Amino acid sequence: MVFIQAKDYDDIGRRASSILISQVILNKKSVLGLATGSSPISTYQHMIKANASGLADFREVKTVNLDEYVGLDPAHNQSYFYFMNENLFKHINIDIAQTRVPSGISKDFAKECVDYENHIKSVGGVDIQLLGLGHNGHIGFNEPAEDFPVTTHCVDLTESTISANERFFEKREDVPTKAITMGIGTIMKARKIVLVVNGEAKADIVEKAFFGPVTPNIPASVLQLHPDVVIIGDAQAFSKIQNRI
Ligand code: F6R
Repeated sequence: MVFIQAKDYDDIGRRASSILISQVILNKKSVLGLATGSSPISTYQHMIKANASGLADFREVKTVNLDEYVGLDPAHNQSYFYFMNENLFKHINIDIAQTRVPSGISKDFAKECVDYENHIKSVGGVDIQLLGLGHNGHIGFNEPAEDFPVTTHCVDLTESTISANERFFEKREDVPTKAITMGIGTIMKARKIVLVVNGEAKADIVEKAFFGPVTPNIPASVLQLHPDVVIIGDAQAFSKIQNRI
């Protein structure tokens, strides 16, 4: 694991986007795995700038997203499909038909999960997967559990995740309680992983996930076993690991 300490949130985005952009420059047909939430927004802003300046061309890039809320229509302003369009896709020259977010309104979720895995295989797997880190150690929506879920699946969100996501909805009852997410195995198959994390509130989980035992109770701890992971964070998020990085 490589730790990069960035100056601030904007600098996290600049550094993460540099990695994603170099991938796209080296292979214009790259497959990027993308995340939502507040952590990757500065990364997307820098990707947008790189596209506008002509540095990065996304015309032939394909993307797959980590997860989606079950029950939210893609047009819902809190769906992850909507988030990706608003925060990235509509600002860059990507072919929207080459982007994919799991469906939160499938009539057959078992099939949607299998189709999603097959889709990732059919595009040749993920070159770089961008991740955020949940307060409880989740990646994607792989919540703390007794085992590492391997493939794309539906999950019940934990109270801690529902509380963390409450800020995006009018009231708690509006926060979806289920999601569809890539599995830990799906994420671990990505050839490279970049995780972005900021703020004091994540300091404890950063220490537990990356310096504690590998356990499905802290799903992100599995990243310790991946051969190519870059963790980009600010001084606040790295405050408990300063002397170890
Ligand atoms: C989002 C996702 C989640 C978030 C995590 C952190 O697609 O998969 O794992 O990355 O919940 O969220 P933020 O960045 O809002 O703190």
